[in-house]
Amino acid sequence: MTVLDLGSGPGRDARALAGPGVRVRAIDHSPLAIARGRAVPGLPAELEFEEADLLSAVAATGTASIDAVYAHVVYMVFSDAELDRLAREIARVLRPGGVHLFAVRSTSDPIAAEGREVAPDVRIRPPDTEPLRYFRAGTLDRLRAPGLERVAAEETPDRRVWYVSDRRT
Ligand SMILES: C[S@@+](CC[C@H](N)C(=O)[O-])C[C@H]1O[C@@H](n2cnc3c(N)ncnc32)[C@H](O)[C@@H]1O
Repeated sequence: MTVLDLGSGPGRDARALAGPGVRVRAIDHSPLAIARGRAVPGLPAELEFEEADLLSAVAATGTASIDAVYAHVVYMVFSDAELDRLAREIARVLRPGGVHLFAVRSTSDPIAAEGREVAPDVRIRPPDTEPLRYFRAGTLDRLRAPGLERVAAEETPDRRVWYVSDRRT
């Protein structure tokens, strides 16, 4: 099977996922993260790092060619339009039965009340300069493009993070 790890950072999760029968494309636009990932000794042969914008990388991926798309705490940086585009592209690249597994920060997280709100649920918390979106149940639906059905959406017991799984119909 082929897995996309979107916003993989240095590939902690990608290393755990890759192995016999599971090829993982770990995609991140940070040259530092990719360099750190590639420098780890003993990487599985099935793991490849790609320094790229994840939206462009998914858009350049073949239709129905991917078994799982995974993104751990990444989608908070995207605008409404980018989330809509990403969800459509993920639905396109997944094979029927393929899964989209993602984690995003929740509006229930106490830090989601800090800083300055620049759009609904989008805040800049000093010293950060980049706005970050916090997700509520309704916002998670943005990522359920036509062709994707929701399997589960659960907050962690401390209610800081949502873990969501969708399946390609
Ligand atoms: C909070 S880190 C999470 C890293 C990793 N998934 C983890 O859980 O350890 C978010 C990552 O997303 C990457 N990222 C953000 N926007 C991106 C984009 N448009 N294209 C590729 N990577 C992106 C950042 O460089 C960063 O490594």
